[in-house]
Amino acid sequence: EKLTSSRKMDHLRICSQTDIETGSTLFDDVHLVHCALPECDMDAIDLSVEFLGKRLASPLFIAAMTGGHPDTAEVNRVLASAAEHYKLGIGVGSQRAALEKPELADSFAIVRETAPHAFVCGNLGAVQLVEHGTEWAERAVEMIDADALCIHLNFLQEAIQPEGDHSAVGCLDAVRQLCKDVKFPVIVKETGNGISREVAARLWDAGVSAIDTGGMGGTSWAKIEGIRANERGAAGDKALRELGDSLLTWGVPTAVSVFEVAGTGTGPVIATGGLRSGLDIAKGIALGATLGGMALPLLSPALCGEEETCRAIDAVHYQLRAAMFLTGSPNVSALQHARTYITGTLREMIGQQPNMRMS
Ligand code: FNR
Repeated sequence: EKLTSSRKMDHLRICSQTDIETGSTLFDDVHLVHCALPECDMDAIDLSVEFLGKRLASPLFIAAMTGGHPDTAEVNRVLASAAEHYKLGIGVGSQRAALEKPELADSFAIVRETAPHAFVCGNLGAVQLVEHGTEWAERAVEMIDADALCIHLNFLQEAIQPEGDHSAVGCLDAVRQLCKDVKFPVIVKETGNGISREVAARLWDAGVSAIDTGGMGGTSWAKIEGIRANERGAAGDKALRELGDSLLTWGVPTAVSVFEVAGTGTGPVIATGGLRSGLDIAKGIALGATLGGMALPLLSPALCGEEETCRAIDAVHYQLRAAMFLTGSPNVSALQHARTYITGTLREMIGQQPNMRMS
């Protein structure tokens, strides 16, 4: 348990001090069609959106980052106060450490204490779900009185971590069982390598309520684990370091993932992974997402405090509002139908298969 919680602090430190982004989301290949005659009032644009039965004031979702070490409680408190103030959805980081060691639960519970009205999502790894089943899932939800539970998939990270879990056997069955057993919505998320159309089809079939793409092009665990390995400096890590380097741009770029997951979809999609502006959120929504998630862009502001965090969120909302205005979209459902030009690599990748192929 000690290992899990010190790893949390390593990650926050590395992520806020170093460039840990790799690859491309391919959002540069998405061009929203400019509407020269918007016929709506930019200041009256409605950013609100319905997600899993709740009305959120904007599609910006604060993606899972932290908790599980007493020092992380303040970051979660600041993020939660922003979620409460702006009526946003927010995810906590993996609750594994606190499920193993209940005295660490405070660093998660502070999110619900600070954000009594926000849409709060719990977080558990698929591997932990296989090991501990519905019992841990229910404890994770109770710990923060969550509105939904995110199950994260992070097998690239597991493959290159010295302490990583190498068995992914039984994850889909465990998700299927969880969806049968519980009343709260289950969301499955990737953590930076994206979800393909085939995986999305298996997840929808298993009964998940929503999918978060966690696509490639933003935060890279290959990069983060490479930096941790360098810091350890152990010779035995050389092979893992080289493996991490070779996988720096492995994954489904976020724009491709949103297109593929929304194309198979029966439920809402959260576009996450390398979204760096309100314009990126608008592009994600135009490709079929309902929400746009951000993790890394909110970490440094959250480490600074509430004021910096509000400033960052205001900027994102201003950009999103402008993109909606300039596409003539008075609300989010209009933006979902905004036309796009798709160019370059994105066009090549999504042009390779028919959109609705299910397998
Ligand atoms: C994460 N992410 C993450 N995801 C998860 O499901 N459980 C977790 O505990 C964490 N922890 C975590 C810590 C830090 C410091 C970062 C930056 C990220 C992944 C996160 O939710 C998101 O999917 C990816 O980071 C991609 O989004 P960005 O960072 O490119 O906006």
